[in-house]
Amino acid sequence: MSLFSSPSEHRPGSDEISEVYVRTMRVKDLPAVMKIERRSFPTPWSETLFQTEIEENSNADYVVACRADELVGYAGMWVLPGGAHITNIAVDPDQRGRRVGTRLLLTLMQRVQFRGLRRMTLEVRKSNKQARRFYQRYGFKVQGIRANYYTDTHEDAVVMKCEDVGKMLATFRFEDSDQGAHS
Ligand SMILES: CC(C)(COP(=O)(O)OP(=O)(O)OC[C@H]1O[C@@H](n2cnc3c(N)ncnc32)[C@H](O)[C@@H]1OP(=O)(O)O)[C@@H](O)C(=O)NCCC(=O)NCCS
Repeated sequence: MSLFSSPSEHRPGSDEISEVYVRTMRVKDLPAVMKIERRSFPTPWSETLFQTEIEENSNADYVVACRADELVGYAGMWVLPGGAHITNIAVDPDQRGRRVGTRLLLTLMQRVQFRGLRRMTLEVRKSNKQARRFYQRYGFKVQGIRANYYTDTHEDAVVMKCEDVGKMLATFRFEDSDQGAHS
């Protein structure tokens, strides 16, 4: 199992993190993914949408985080010529605050870096302070607001961007390469 530590104040090195591994999402993960999705978002994605992303969208890259045999979180992005766009990230509500989200985000960043890209963007609900703080912690800065972006609540989206994932990753030290681009 990988250990993961940081020399800086970004130290994510709790014991929790070493118990978690991240791998590419498979269709058979979807029932467990959907359980977390339904508990995490007011308007959850459908299982079909996840399946289409995995099977039909060649730009899509989705990963899951597991602790022992239990799926505890997932994240995904579209990898495009100018950079990657995070489409989804969620951690089991009972497992939050234990660095699982950190592992997922840093794995996406590694995969972006592996493809020779630097930029990552995302949209987040303005009211989702927890997620905004999470992204900020890992180098994402506010770029602007998309008014009325979410059709369910008509809430504004905050657009956030990380300009250089390589620079962000360089502040961390991975003691084992198995979390790399093809974990
Ligand atoms: C956002 C989310 C993925 C973070 O996952 P997580 O495993 O709980 O996050 P981590 O434990 O890795 O936390 C890393 C950092 O994020 C921030 N953070 C996480 N939870 C937080 C909370 N409850 N309040 C404030 N900041 C928080 C902190 O800066 C934390 O670093 P710190 O512990 O040094 O303060 C998770 O909260 C989640 O699933 N939320 C619901 C779904 C969602 O909103 N997704 C984003 C859609 S855009």
